[in-house]
Amino acid sequence: MKNILITGGAGFIGSHLVRLMVNKYPDYRIINLDLLTYAGNLANLKDVENKPNYVFVKEDVCNLEGVQAIFDEYKIDGVIHLAAESHVDRSIKDPFSFARTNVIGTLSLLQAAKTAWAGGGDYTDKLFYHVSTDEVYGSLELGGGFFTEQTKYAPHSPYSASKASSDHFVRAFHDTYGLPVKISNCSNNYGSYQFPEKLIPLFINNIIHNKPLPVYGKGENIRDWLFVEDHAQAIDLIFHKGKVGDTYNIGGFNEWRNIDLIKVLIKVTDRLLGRKEGASDKLITYVTDRAGHDMRYAIDSTKLHEELGWSPSLQFEEGIEKTVKWYLENQEWLDFVTSGAYMEYYEEHYGNR
Ligand SMILES: NC(=O)c1ccc[n+]([C@@H]2O[C@H](COP(=O)([O-])OP(=O)(O)OC[C@H]3O[C@@H](n4cnc5c(N)ncnc54)[C@H](O)[C@@H]3O)[C@@H](O)[C@H]2O)c1
Repeated sequence: MKNILITGGAGFIGSHLVRLMVNKYPDYRIINLDLLTYAGNLANLKDVENKPNYVFVKEDVCNLEGVQAIFDEYKIDGVIHLAAESHVDRSIKDPFSFARTNVIGTLSLLQAAKTAWAGGGDYTDKLFYHVSTDEVYGSLELGGGFFTEQTKYAPHSPYSASKASSDHFVRAFHDTYGLPVKISNCSNNYGSYQFPEKLIPLFINNIIHNKPLPVYGKGENIRDWLFVEDHAQAIDLIFHKGKVGDTYNIGGFNEWRNIDLIKVLIKVTDRLLGRKEGASDKLITYVTDRAGHDMRYAIDSTKLHEELGWSPSLQFEEGIEKTVKWYLENQEWLDFVTSGAYMEYYEEHYGNR
């Protein structure tokens, strides 16, 4: 049996990855380490929580002793590290918590892995996989090129600076101590179970409730969108087949101006709600642009496609339709999160946050 530690498994992408790994690899034991911050929600994992190869442990990645104890108790062979503070707007208000979780948290996991694995004599069949973002590469010109694995890091927000720093630490542990690592940098994800502070679930929820849709600046910033289950598949593939020490970019060549994406969201949501076409257009509200707002992200994932044969499984139109339907059919989940009831529930069941 392989013991795989997935951090941040109660979050958006982490919960999709945990579900995939628990179902696909009954011989693996999947240990989900998550602090259950405001972004963590075990309701994302209801369908796998009772599987015999799944374990949840509430822990802070920054607590080196606690993380080391988990390595010892569960004989961890592989790590897939997703736990992070992940919202750019929050990083602008509170950069320190991003440095703490994303930098110190990654460092303590690396240190725990090194101590546990080097103590065993060698690193055979061990792997530390770090999940990162395309935002570390900075911003692209409109109509310019793409981020490749060779693009120099140029982060602009405290979030992307903290992720860039964590990537550097992962590479440093590979180069200095020989720790077997892999890194992937992915574009913006969308899909079910995303915390509704992020654009797509926030806007679907606001359209449902006829609330304003706040658009930064003129809505001209461009993001490259990938369906979250395609990201999880790519992580699984890289974890098993990628080259140790390598970096892989993950993206679907799917660029959208924010305002165009919002119009698609309005159209699909109104249709599925049985509203007249354009009924919710009036909700669009232009607001002051985000400080240091990157203009364009676009990922070149040719390496992942050519070396490992990965391609996204869904066209964007199909993915958006599926996503809007999911939020409409799971309004109980949305209400549980937007009302804050989930925080009280986890405080009661898992102690203080
Ligand atoms: N969402 C995206 O579009 C995107 C794109 C590329 C890369 N990423 C990266 O993927 C990872 C997951 O992103 P997400 O969108 O699922 O994030 P998320 O905010 O939905 O989930 C983060 C999870 O980490 C947990 N966590 C936070 N601090 C912790 C700590 N100190 N100790 C243990 N657990 C802690 C939270 O409880 C939560 O469950 C992040 O590393 C992010 O940088 C995200």
